[in-house]
Amino acid sequence: MALKTLKTETRGRVAIITLNRPDALNALNSELLSELRETLAQYGADEKIGAIVLTGSEKAFAAGADIKEMQPKDYVSAYMEDFFEGWSAVSSTRKPVIAAVAGYALGGGCELAMMCDFIIAADTAKFGQPEITLGVLPGMGGTQRLTRAVGKAKAMDLCLTGRMMDAEEAERSGLVARVVPAAELLATATKAAEKIAGFSLPVAMMVKESVNRADEVPLAEGLRFERRLFHSLFATEDQKEGMSAFIDKRKAQFKHR
Ligand code: CAA
Repeated sequence: MALKTLKTETRGRVAIITLNRPDALNALNSELLSELRETLAQYGADEKIGAIVLTGSEKAFAAGADIKEMQPKDYVSAYMEDFFEGWSAVSSTRKPVIAAVAGYALGGGCELAMMCDFIIAADTAKFGQPEITLGVLPGMGGTQRLTRAVGKAKAMDLCLTGRMMDAEEAERSGLVARVVPAAELLATATKAAEKIAGFSLPVAMMVKESVNRADEVPLAEGLRFERRLFHSLFATEDQKEGMSAFIDKRKAQFKHR
């Protein structure tokens, strides 16, 4: 498929997807969603890919859902098409996905970054949920994922005032895993993705599944789920290889990558 709103490349076992609507600060429209869904499905099925980096431009990761596309919608069409449901394809991607964020990550842009497994931010990044200024509220998970990430006080502050927070505040609040100089953003995110892609892929996918489970179930259920996955790994060659390599003082050569 010829892509109009994304650029893609692969570096070894890492796929890099770059949002590419520079004239609209990467605003998220239906064409971009459709291309992103297709691209994630392809990389998800590609056994040569072990991790994905999602990034934008220096100026904007994404400045939100496309307001021009959204403005004329009416209630019935929004309800009937279950507007925004298509974005669940990002959070249900089973391979690890890192968001590399520089510049604006506002509204749907912040929500898209939060659908990824963790965020590495440039020191230029600005996060916010300004939907209230447009007469709506976040619709791609902002009130839910932001609250889980940064707690009620800061989520309320951001969603009710529509203000932006910089990278330093985002890291301090727990939204962002690491902040790096803007010039090092993509290299850092790619290196992290390469590291992940060097491990056993089923293990990385189980880590993702298990950490995500922590948001969904009570602690006792989450602990049981984690332990069952842990037990299941003793049926794999990668567990034997990983532990044998440690004992033999050599680098593990995982089979399931
Ligand atoms: N949708 C559509 N177009 C957008 C856009 C968006 N979310 N954000 C920016 N653009 C467009 C602008 O309209 C402008 O296009 P034109 O040149 O054709 O006028 C172009 O991108 C450049 O933008 P600006 O001239 O505004 O750039 P700036 O540097 O002066 O300001 C900004 C940058 C502060 C990010 C500003 O663009 C802005 O406030 N954007 C909107 C942010 C926003 O409200 N996002 C939330 C959207 S709603 C949402 O996401 C709902 C949800 O829950 C998912």
